[in-house]
Formats: sequence, C-alpha cells, structure tokens
Amino acid sequence: MSWFDAVDIRKEYPLGDGVKVALDGFSLSAPRGDFVSIIGRSGSGKTTFLRIVAGLLEKTSGEIRYGGGVPPRIGMVFQEPRLMPWLTVEKNVLFAHLSRNRKAIPYDMAKNLLEMLGLSLYKDAYPSQLSGGMAQRVALGRALCREPELILMDEPFGSLDYFTRRSLQEEILRLYMRDKKTIFLVTHDVDEAVALSRRVVVLDQGRVSREIDIDLEYPRKRTNPAFAATVEMILSYITG
Ligand SMILES: Nc1ncnc2c1ncn2[C@@H]1O[C@H](COP(=O)(O)OP(=O)(O)OP(=O)(O)O)[C@@H](O)[C@H]1O
Ligand SMILES: [Mg+2]
Repeated sequence: MSWFDAVDIRKEYPLGDGVKVALDGFSLSAPRGDFVSIIGRSGSGKTTFLRIVAGLLEKTSGEIRYGGGVPPRIGMVFQEPRLMPWLTVEKNVLFAHLSRNRKAIPYDMAKNLLEMLGLSLYKDAYPSQLSGGMAQRVALGRALCREPELILMDEPFGSLDYFTRRSLQEEILRLYMRDKKTIFLVTHDVDEAVALSRRVVVLDQGRVSREIDIDLEYPRKRTNPAFAATVEMILSYITG
C-alpha cells in the first residue's frame, strides 16, 4: 500500500440513452512527495480522475485509498482561475478559511503566499484588475493556503502565454523542492511534464497505458539531450 492508491477506478457518465465510460480500470499509486504528471489526448479521462480524487465527482466503482488512513487535505488549481470577483486578492487566497467562518484567519500565511507569488502590491485589488497569469497565481495561492498535503492541478497554465507559463513552472518547481508536497499535474505539454515531474503517466481511453520515471536531476535543463530524448519518447507513446 502506498501513500496514495487509486485502484481500478471506473467512471461512467450518463449520455443519451447509454453511458460514456470515461475511466475504465484506471489505477495509480504514489508515495508521499511524488510529482506525477498525467498526460493524454483530449477526452482520455484526466479531468475526470482529478475531480474524483478531489471529491467533486462520484466514481462508478473502484477505490481510492490513503496509506495514512485518513484522506489528506487537498488543494486544487483549475484550468481557469475561478476567483470570486467580489473578493480582493487577499480574500480570495483566504477563501477556504473565510467561508468556514473560522475564528483564526491565517492572515500571516496569506501575506507570505502573496509575497512568494509576487502579488503583495495587489493584495487589495480585485480579480478584474489582474492579468491572466496573476489571476492564476492567486488561484495557486488559494490552493496553497489550505495547507494541502496533495495538490491537484488541471492544466493550470494552459491558457497562459509562453513566458508566464515558464515562470509559473519555475514557481511550482521551487515550491515542490521546498515543501515536497505530493502533486498530480494534468498537462498537454510534454516539455512541462518532463521539466517538473518525477513520473509521467500516459492516459489512453480511461486507463494508464504507460508510466515513465523521469530520472533527471532538478532543476532540469531543456537543452540537455537526455531531456529532449525523454520528451520524444513520451510523445511517441501518445501519438504511437
Ligand atoms: N458530464 C459528462 N457527461 C458525459 N460525458 C462526459 C462528461 N464529462 C466528461 N465526459 C466524457 O468523458 C471523457 C473524459 O473526459 P475528461 O474531461 O475527463 O477528459 P480529459 O482527458 O480531461 O480531456 P481534455 O484534455 O480535453 O481536458 C470524454 O469523452 C468526455 O466527453
Ligand atoms: Mg480535462
């Protein structure tokens, strides 16, 4: 038993008169502190899997087990920032705490997160005043402010320009190196997966078709021939 085990997950969505099978015997295990990228064609079931882990969606059958017994605290970052437009940046980051009506709101933690994410000046700004990359950083801050043990990211940089994307990738890597949280990242970007994760899982029609360990030292150089070769190999598994 690992820290995280998804065992033989099946997910059927009702569709028309029948069902659409989105996950079909999906299994994945991960030790604590693992960084797993999940890649696969559109419709292969990546979002469905993350939503089931996050508890946002019921599975049809199968099991999710945690070695520690209790489910960990989970932070999720979606493809779009999904911020509350009527709340300031700071309050969006603190959202999980404010909405639970707690007495002790961790303002210090929010302050540190905003600083780390380069958003201190925008603490009192509203989402409409932010660029796409900044809004996505706020969404990341909101996920981290829950002090998650497991971070789920569903193409978090998909809508961002190349430069913003690269700088957020560096941010995530810094966080990962610092805190060693367990991260599941869904991405279409094989470069991103190879730059960031310890393991790449290829999803094909609702099941894992390949698992590749990335044995390159962090921080990884994209100019390294081994990096390029790994990217090519993974691409061949997706297209082949
Ligand atoms: N609510 C739903 N009802 C019916 N079918 C659904 C529903 N949600 C997803 N599906 C189907 O389940 C399959 C998996 O969807 P999912 O969103 O998990 O794919 P994905 O790998 O995240 O794709 P993408 O890369 O495009 O985001 C797809 O064929 C999709 O059409
Ligand atoms: Mg998806």
